[in-house]
Amino acid sequence: MKLLAMLCFSCLYCVNAAQGLEQECTRFMSQSLVRYRAKNLKSSAIGSPLTEAVRVLQEYQFNCSSTITSLILGIDIRAGHRLLPSVQVFRKIGGSSQYDLVIGSERVIYYGTSNVSTSGVFEYPLNPPVPVMSGDLLAVSQPSPAFSIARVHYIDNVPGVRFSSSQHAFGTRSGVNLNNSLITNQLILVYPVTDGYCVNSINSITPSIVREYGFKVHQSQIFSSRRQYLYPDMLFSCNGSVTKFTF
Ligand SMILES: *[C@@H]1O[C@H](CO)[C@@H](O)[C@H](O)[C@H]1NC(C)=O
Ligand SMILES: *[C@@H]1O[C@H](CO)[C@@H](O)[C@H](O)[C@H]1NC(C)=O
Ligand SMILES: *[C@@H]1O[C@H](CO)[C@@H](O)[C@H](O)[C@H]1NC(C)=O
Ligand SMILES: *[C@@H]1O[C@H](CO)[C@@H](O)[C@H](O)[C@H]1NC(C)=O
Repeated sequence: MKLLAMLCFSCLYCVNAAQGLEQECTRFMSQSLVRYRAKNLKSSAIGSPLTEAVRVLQEYQFNCSSTITSLILGIDIRAGHRLLPSVQVFRKIGGSSQYDLVIGSERVIYYGTSNVSTSGVFEYPLNPPVPVMSGDLLAVSQPSPAFSIARVHYIDNVPGVRFSSSQHAFGTRSGVNLNNSLITNQLILVYPVTDGYCVNSINSITPSIVREYGFKVHQSQIFSSRRQYLYPDMLFSCNGSVTKFTF
């Protein structure tokens, strides 16, 4: 089992007493995440991976030209698989009511088990950033969740939260007709970070809403018995002593 899983499942936090402050050590879980996990040991994860489909996120209406510089994501990452999700931009063509994929706008979300998030929520930098124009829509393409390394999650029926999206066949690149099947009860855990104020969320979805739910898609599990775990990527970044553990 790889590092991400272990980070999420182990409730360990270090305190740097030498400087008299609580300080996060490199790649350790954030204390707030440990506290959440510790309080929710028996409760299962909420949310589900997106099914194999293209989801067009009508939720985010771009109202001027800008670039998407990163994505805030609620995802899980699993070893032993090979497919990856991507994001794309769809644009209305001419006077029609249909949207087509903007050539060159696709960005694969390259995450593997060496990528960890100390907060449980991932922010994926888009390099280069994805340009958007007024009227464009962002879409997420998730290959079969059974074979995907990284899986974007959604949560059904979050009280007080609506999120507009529609679902289309995997591989759809053109002719997206938004009149079909608007889904509003599934919070898709994706937020596009832009370099300006060009994203208008119909239902007032904010980065903090995606962050608030993004880490809840992971589950706590019991350590396998008679094992000792080592975390080669978790390093103490300063000299001090450990004075307390949070479990
Ligand atoms: C994911 O991990 C790989 C390997 O360590 C690293 O090269 C890459 O930059 C990481 N990706 C992100 C988005 O941090
Ligand atoms: C979609 O809806 C709009 C307005 O509601 C209508 O003008 C258009 O013809 C519809 N398009 C299709 C393909 O059904
Ligand atoms: C775009 O929408 C955002 C959020 O509603 C708003 O703050 C901004 O002023 C809008 N920009 C334009 C050009 O309408
Ligand atoms: C930590 O302690 C070691 C050994 O005493 C010393 O070489 C190193 O410079 C110290 N590092 C810091 C950041 O104080």
